[in-house]
Amino acid sequence: MEVITAIAQMRHAVAHAPRPLGFVPTMGALHAGHAALVRRARRECATVAVSIFVNPLQFGPSEDFERYPRDLDADCRLLADVGVDIVFAPGVDAMYPRPPDVVVVPDRLARFFEGERRPGHFRGVATVVLKLLNVVRPERAYFGQKDAQQLAVVQRMVFDLNLDVEIVACETVRDADGLALSSRNRYLSEEERRAAPHLYAALREAARRLEAGDLHTEPLLVAARRELPPLREDYLAVVRPQLFEPVDAVVPGEDVLVIGAAFAGTTRLIDNIRVRVGAAGEAPADRRSPEHVS
Ligand code: PAF
Repeated sequence: MEVITAIAQMRHAVAHAPRPLGFVPTMGALHAGHAALVRRARRECATVAVSIFVNPLQFGPSEDFERYPRDLDADCRLLADVGVDIVFAPGVDAMYPRPPDVVVVPDRLARFFEGERRPGHFRGVATVVLKLLNVVRPERAYFGQKDAQQLAVVQRMVFDLNLDVEIVACETVRDADGLALSSRNRYLSEEERRAAPHLYAALREAARRLEAGDLHTEPLLVAARRELPPLREDYLAVVRPQLFEPVDAVVPGEDVLVIGAAFAGTTRLIDNIRVRVGAAGEAPADRRSPEHVS
């Protein structure tokens, strides 16, 4: 496995790599969710490249950029174990030799939820993903569905800007108690960790009601909210996956996302479940073959 920090060297390595090339962009602090993305890329591509870059542009001034967990050696061990060919781990100076003047600014898709809570976040994500795609030039790029709004922004950027890459959406990996894996889970105290699965429980309650055919979202979200304590709600909503706007009423047979964010202490958790409205009796995609780790 080659570990590369310079853009010119990365361009050279990928230019000579067997195709198709699968790319997994990350910010490091890797866990079994990242390993699942890499394994999928490994199955589908001749070369697998992973980037590790904690992107300052997507953190707000009061967010955790400085304390975001960084452990390149541990990350490289995990990546070597799952068969990665190339790790691209540039420094901030390599990615942003000057403060960028031209950036990618998602519009409607970033108006609510994560975009509203974290102003500038999706501008930072879209800009760095475009830069990484321009350096790595993959045929396929793999993203987790846990960050569903990020995934929607990236998919829309690829469509709107005619990027020549296939975005592969991969299922959320969960601990046995339902908590979606996230690098930020390592901020949780023992007590907060015990409370954390309440977010998934709330999402499941909303999903259960949608599957049963409830078409008005507010009453079902009221019921779902009862599952959240001791977590503190940031938001809980039903959205259409390509729009990320709150939906008051859904239509039988349509696919929607139940999305949520909640605080365990000062740590903010986000998660979502995909649901087919009125599909009671038929398990939704998330529950048919969940990738669980214990
Ligand atoms: O999901 C992440 O880890 C980051 O937002 C990404 C896509 C690597 C961009 O920095």
